[in-house]
Amino acid sequence: MYLRSIEWDDGKIKIIDQTKLPETLEYKYLTSLEDVVEAIRNMRVRGAPLIGATAVLGLALVAYQNRDKSGESLISILKNAYEELRRSRPTAVNLINMMNVLMEYAKKNPVSHKIVSYALELMEQDVEINRKIAEYGSELIEDGDVVLTHCNTGSLATVSIGTALGVILRAFEKGKKFKVIITETRPKLQGARITAFELIYAGFKPILIVDSAVSHVMKSLGVTKIFVGADRILRDGTTFNKIGTYQIAISAKYHRIPFYVVAPTTTFDLVNNVSDVIIENRDKEEVIKCGGKYIAPIDVDVYNPAFDATPPELISGIVTEKGIYYPPYDFKRLS
Ligand code: MRU
Repeated sequence: MYLRSIEWDDGKIKIIDQTKLPETLEYKYLTSLEDVVEAIRNMRVRGAPLIGATAVLGLALVAYQNRDKSGESLISILKNAYEELRRSRPTAVNLINMMNVLMEYAKKNPVSHKIVSYALELMEQDVEINRKIAEYGSELIEDGDVVLTHCNTGSLATVSIGTALGVILRAFEKGKKFKVIITETRPKLQGARITAFELIYAGFKPILIVDSAVSHVMKSLGVTKIFVGADRILRDGTTFNKIGTYQIAISAKYHRIPFYVVAPTTTFDLVNNVSDVIIENRDKEEVIKCGGKYIAPIDVDVYNPAFDATPPELISGIVTEKGIYYPPYDFKRLS
């Protein structure tokens, strides 16, 4: 039912190359730091928890390839790799949070095989965390619900199971009877290409809509609950997620539909403020091309932010592996 998006395979990183979906389920081996940075930047792997896990395995790969070194010389090589990985994508905080955990461990245990083992442990932790999230979140779904989700937050956005989509799939596994509406999520089409693929793979038939149909569909198809993921959640609950999330939350408020954010605690940033967070601006080509063809004049000006910030007053609840938090949000510490 659940795909596995990333694995450590005898000194190499094995990923599902998500740029090839839905046509082919193709695996790719990453065998150098450059490969790992390229895979994150060009979205062969994507989704905040998976970006974090990939970066951690990237550090493990560097440690493995420098297994003749230890102590300060190994740490200094890892620090350079950390800097390169840090620059690959700026918004999902899991990348930094998960690498920081591994680097702290590496500084205390500067030996290659220990660093690799701990990186693998962190990767497996993501699966266990998602299992707990799915358990809590699936209780929010009832028979007869019409659930809407945005982007892709499933196994392919995490190591396995997923966050918002993990909640939906767990409810389906529990035998609940409900409908799922998925947005196509322009410009990279994570909803159409990846979420539709994952749900159909699990035996669920979703309804795909174009992004601009969201408000109309809330009314016409009677949406009852919304579940989205997150790339970064701040102290006050402000949630950075895929572009389009903010307008879905506004429309949900107008239609009085509960709007839930689902994320592991590795997605929380309790230090920065809204203005400190960099929203990734991606290439113009993503907007003016679709399916390899130009759909706009090549010299048009384009603004292509990949994420937006949803303010806490639009969020009905935040589902994590520690339980469900309700407003007012005040995450000084996560306990
Ligand atoms: O640009 P992407 O595909 O990496 O963006 C993905 C999202 O915005 C997801 O909603 C978020 O990372 C949560 S994934 C569990």
